[in-house]
Amino acid sequence: MDPTTLKGRSLLTWLDYTAEEIRYFLEVSKQVKAESQRHEVHRRFEGKTLALLFEKRSTRTRCAFETAFGEEGGHPVFLSTADIQLGAKESIEDTARVLGRMFSAIQFRGFKQATVETLAHYSGVPVYNGLTDDFHPTQVLADIQTLEEQYGPATGKKLCFVGDGRNNVARSLMVICAKLGVHFTLITPPSLNPDPDLTTRCTAIAQVSGAQLRITPDTAEVEGAHAVYTDVWVSMGEEAKKEERIRLLRPYQVNQALMDKTGRKDSIFLHCLPAIKGEEVSSGVIDGSQSRAWDQAENRKHTIKALLLATLGY
Ligand code: CP
Ligand code: NVA
Repeated sequence: MDPTTLKGRSLLTWLDYTAEEIRYFLEVSKQVKAESQRHEVHRRFEGKTLALLFEKRSTRTRCAFETAFGEEGGHPVFLSTADIQLGAKESIEDTARVLGRMFSAIQFRGFKQATVETLAHYSGVPVYNGLTDDFHPTQVLADIQTLEEQYGPATGKKLCFVGDGRNNVARSLMVICAKLGVHFTLITPPSLNPDPDLTTRCTAIAQVSGAQLRITPDTAEVEGAHAVYTDVWVSMGEEAKKEERIRLLRPYQVNQALMDKTGRKDSIFLHCLPAIKGEEVSSGVIDGSQSRAWDQAENRKHTIKALLLATLGY
């Protein structure tokens, strides 16, 4: 693959990328992680600026972008909706045009996928989706890296997501697994199935990559899973649905009994974090020996640095 084809690109969803391109980001991420372990210092973002737009809260995503960019000489600027007009008094289009004149790139975390798309369309600089209601692409790149650190190439491995099947993380996992040929089983109550449009698109992609995609309400289908993944039952912005979600998802808690159903002693537990221990996951599992949640969190930084390096240029 010619890496120069990645220069200037936005990351809105992995649907826009080929498996080869995704693999390239993973390779760069492995390299920058190794550099970081050797305490190497680089200045590859010197003279560059990054706008970090946040409509929703964040620990990992903000810190990963800010530290990955800043430690290499770049200048990140954090802007929340308490600071700027983002569709309130000024249109998203106009904000995008102005930021595009001042920044080398833009990260957006917020509600609508349409907002991140509009930013990309009007700014003229790379725009990175740091989570919307629909997708969380930078998260799942780190998740694949974490899976590969345990098992080697992810292709042909089985990853099960157990929980809210229509949320941004589950949907993004379905896309990246379909692209990379990872067998993906989504275990969720039928009322929380992802939208049929995305499922149809991913099924077509999986036919090419060889991934097996399954959507089922049956937790017994974690059998053989290399990794069991969950996320909060109530995503940001959906707080009004809390009671209903707890009622629907209680049988889907990832606890030791569920981990044991994989039948694999070496299966790992993944969680994008933040976690609500005692709801989607038991403390025993997330704080136990099978958990790789903290490696995942660290890998957010390395994968985000890889994304920035590949799209902004060294
Ligand atoms: N996983 C993740 O995106 O964490 P934050 O919400 O803290 O950024
Ligand atoms: N699904 C969660 C992910 C948080 C990183 C949310 O949107 O709140």
